[in-house]
Amino acid sequence: CGIVGVLGNHEAAPILVEALKRLEYRGYDSAGIATVNNGDLARRRAVGKLANLSDLLVHEPLAGKSGIGHTRWATHGAPTVGNAHPHRAGRVAVVHNGIIENFKDLRADLGRKGITFATETDTETVALLCESLIADGKAPVDAAYETVQQLDGAFALAFLFEGEEDLMIAARKGSPLAVGHGNGEMFVGSDAIALAPFTDEISYLEEGDFAVLTRNSLEIRDQRGAIANREKRKIVLENARVDKDGHKHFMAKEIAEQPVAIDRALKAYMTDNAEITLPEGLDFTKVERLTMVACGTAFYACMVAKYWFERIARLPVEVDVASEFRYREPPVAPNTLALFVSQSGETADTLAALRYMDGKADKIVGLVNVPESSIARESDVILPLHAGPEISVASTKAFTCQLSILLLLALRAAEQRGLPLPDGMPGDLRSLPGLIHQSLAGEKQIAASARSLAKAQDIIFLGRGQLYPLALEGALKLKELSYIHAEGYASGELKHGPIALIDEKVPVVVLAPRDELFEKTVSNMQEVMARGGKVILVTDAEGAKIAGEGTHEVIIMPQIPDALAPILYAVPAQQIAYFTAIAKGTDVDQPRNLAKSVTVE
Ligand code: G6P
Repeated sequence: CGIVGVLGNHEAAPILVEALKRLEYRGYDSAGIATVNNGDLARRRAVGKLANLSDLLVHEPLAGKSGIGHTRWATHGAPTVGNAHPHRAGRVAVVHNGIIENFKDLRADLGRKGITFATETDTETVALLCESLIADGKAPVDAAYETVQQLDGAFALAFLFEGEEDLMIAARKGSPLAVGHGNGEMFVGSDAIALAPFTDEISYLEEGDFAVLTRNSLEIRDQRGAIANREKRKIVLENARVDKDGHKHFMAKEIAEQPVAIDRALKAYMTDNAEITLPEGLDFTKVERLTMVACGTAFYACMVAKYWFERIARLPVEVDVASEFRYREPPVAPNTLALFVSQSGETADTLAALRYMDGKADKIVGLVNVPESSIARESDVILPLHAGPEISVASTKAFTCQLSILLLLALRAAEQRGLPLPDGMPGDLRSLPGLIHQSLAGEKQIAASARSLAKAQDIIFLGRGQLYPLALEGALKLKELSYIHAEGYASGELKHGPIALIDEKVPVVVLAPRDELFEKTVSNMQEVMARGGKVILVTDAEGAKIAGEGTHEVIIMPQIPDALAPILYAVPAQQIAYFTAIAKGTDVDQPRNLAKSVTVE
């Protein structure tokens, strides 16, 4: 979800809608804005895309130069107009990201005072609580402050008040929020990207901050109630650009950008003489165990890295999805290094897992794309991804940058542990941008085969060893984007169940470079073909020569050093999902029900 706010010198509604548009990429299913005009507070809300809100605003315009806006991704309660933000109670309008955990208790208290509710949402409770304090005679700022003090959970909030043209409140606890400084104007946004067209001077609120904004002033109280100063930073506009650069979708642009993004990531961690340079404080000499935690695509990057760290650096690795890890209460061995991987740096479960490891692990390392994010702030060592802003909900360039940096880390760990590096490493990583560029040319063939994949009801992805997580990633991408049921399996596991699904209607995508495990995968593939399964083999020229016969289709990838294969083979996996989605006509950049950054449990 996204929050925006403006105390401006121009009509607020178009500014709010534009800012919300820039947050669209986070995923949402309803949207709304509220403004104050001549003291009157009013709001408009609509279900579905922002265009629906814009249409509504044409018929029922909203005047006023002060306003707040929101895109909502439904958690509690369906995506209806009634549940959309801003929520309003009397003189107070509120937009909110996150979850208020104690809202039922607060509701019960308010209920005892005879206050009635229009919705079941936690956000309405915030508005009602604030309004009830104003009704008790409190000034709006004090009422909002007292309200926020009573809330448990992780949230970001913005308040607007009837009769107050020059006042907005912003509060942060667990969900990010930034204040933008204009010239006699003030802005609020859940990230800098939303605010980039209006200002490049940003202050990030810290955990527990309560900010009182007017057009010409910003006063922040920290979590202890003391007046705090938050540094004004210039945002690099390049990092806040959200255009498709001539591509049809952000995803297409981000897939195509991978050679450049990976090149940038590699340069940040490797010198011209192919020496790996890690940030200070990151040393594997004494590390005895590595714990890696993440969600979604970032989790699959960790799974690949496990193969690298164990094989190349002989370091035992534990990998888990954050939502499981955080509640498993895992015992933490001495000399454990904990690595959290997240594009956004805001994923609630990953952040909670990080907090669990705080004080237990020797060192907490965050591999994130957003250096101002919560995970970055709470890590001992930050490894920025340098992928550039990733707008499409489905992660692509962040994934391949994560992989590239994780491989460098594994290689450095091997060096520090006195182990020889595989031939050609780390210098060979430099061939990645070129090879990926070359593989992007396979687009036409994949687009053609995607037209028949789009007719399938189920698709299976197979991979072995370090390509197994890529099979999982290929299946995840495909179901996210095309809504076709897809599953990824370790090739060797096929005969233990999934083979029962195989018939001529189930395409099987096999990701298999000609490596030492190739022959084994070929046997698994033959088991599929013997049962009428249609195999789409993604391999290199040598692999195609050996195993191409009998397959439905072969997609030929450039030859690549073994360790780099998972990074290269991410590209066809992404392209298969992308073109299948195009063939099905689904919303590629904003698939239904998904959010880019999941800041709730
Ligand atoms: C969401 C996104 C996924 C992403 C995952 C983890 O589910 O839809 O694409 O992989 O969150 O996000 P993170 O920002 O932590 O990498």
